[in-house]
Amino acid sequence: MPIIGVVHRLLGDPLEFMARVHRHYGDLVKLPLGKHTMYLAAHPDMIKRITQENWKNYIKRYATMDEILGQGLVTSNGQLWLRQRRLMQPAFHHQRIARMAEMMVEETERMLTRWEGYARSGQPFDMQDELMLLAEKVIVRAMFSTSLNDDEAATIGKAFNDTLNWVAGQQFRFWQPPRSWPTAGNLRYRRNLALLEGVVYRLIEERRHQQGVHDDLLEMLVTACDAETGEQMSTQQIRDEVMTIFLAGHETTAGTMSWMLHVLSHHGDAERKLRAEYATYLGGRNPTPADLPKLTFNRMVIDETLRLYPPTWMLSRVLVDSDTLGGYEVPAGSSVLLSPYVTHRHPAFWPHAESFDPERFCPAEAEGRHKFAYIPFLSGPRQCIGNQFALMEMQLMLPMILQRFWVSAVPGYPVRPIPRATLRPGPRLWMQVALA
Ligand code: HEM
Repeated sequence: MPIIGVVHRLLGDPLEFMARVHRHYGDLVKLPLGKHTMYLAAHPDMIKRITQENWKNYIKRYATMDEILGQGLVTSNGQLWLRQRRLMQPAFHHQRIARMAEMMVEETERMLTRWEGYARSGQPFDMQDELMLLAEKVIVRAMFSTSLNDDEAATIGKAFNDTLNWVAGQQFRFWQPPRSWPTAGNLRYRRNLALLEGVVYRLIEERRHQQGVHDDLLEMLVTACDAETGEQMSTQQIRDEVMTIFLAGHETTAGTMSWMLHVLSHHGDAERKLRAEYATYLGGRNPTPADLPKLTFNRMVIDETLRLYPPTWMLSRVLVDSDTLGGYEVPAGSSVLLSPYVTHRHPAFWPHAESFDPERFCPAEAEGRHKFAYIPFLSGPRQCIGNQFALMEMQLMLPMILQRFWVSAVPGYPVRPIPRATLRPGPRLWMQVALA
């Protein structure tokens, strides 16, 4: 395909474009993009090679996110990444996460109390906005022991949203005005970034004056000491990690929860089965971590939603040395795109891939499936550090919502996947609730 054709389609509808080139050309597709050559690698064997067997050869270079996330855990490489990952990993230990359940339930409870007003008035609302606020409050309390009020959460959420939309618009562009130019877009971006940094620096400063009170990720970052040099972590590095966790820890879960409620509003059979499971094991009360292993269909619905609508729908790596993928030599310096969205629809591993069918994840069906055919959290050493946190959060929230409310889509507002920094349902997600 001529280069202009590739860029045009990639910019226009990247999801459809990637799914189509995969269908048309197969598991490794070379995309000519000017000086840079990109490859789309879709086969699970290639995912295994890139993320696990030869992962050190595939580095991250997320130029557009550099300024926002700096050298935080998502964007860093090499020794810096390894040191920070080891330092931060204990904050995500499963026992520690289990202790956060009560707080997650409490924040969800607050949101549901607000929904009672929506239920009484029958007023439609944007479900995604609600879930975004909730996920923000949860991540900030869990990792930084700080409570946000509704206004703060809304202001921060909007700043993140605008920033990410702006960054997404920059991807695959051949040319854009340098960030130092005072264009309207650049100025708005600067204002939003300054707002977010203000919040992050305030969190760090407050903690420096109040050490030893909280046992959370922020405490680990602020008190960390290098074993060899005895030096403390720089304020810039703490800022990068806090910004990264803040962003990575709420966009993704809120997006998945939104998709889940949207999909369930169109799949009455799955919703009925969920309600029956909740009635059996919860009987109307709020769930605890001890209940979750029994709520098997609850988990299957989450897994299937993450298959169809993986928030991280595309990620990329740059090859340090050349490598062989699927029998083809891929030269050093090229970029490889991995797309959970495409791999999760691979016909060799997912029959009727477009249909929503949680039963795919019952143990009998899942057994023997290629482990790397399902990668919502990616795989290998750089897989998501927050996967258990996110799964617990969603497993608690879904039963709480459905036991209290009937949730339905507002007719006349079609929803489709919007591939931005994460894959969101859009353009808006108007829904209504009624007391169950
Ligand atoms: C449904 C929820 C989530 C999904 C689908 C998801 C997905 C992912 C994926 C695919 C990656 C790999 C990105 C890459 O290699 O380029 C990743 C990395 C990461 N995620 Fe998540 N994530 C979720 C929730 C969370 C949460 C709740 C947190 C924090 C509490 C988090 C923090 C991170 C971090 C720090 C990394 C970088 C890890 C590293 O490279 O060492 N994520 N996530």
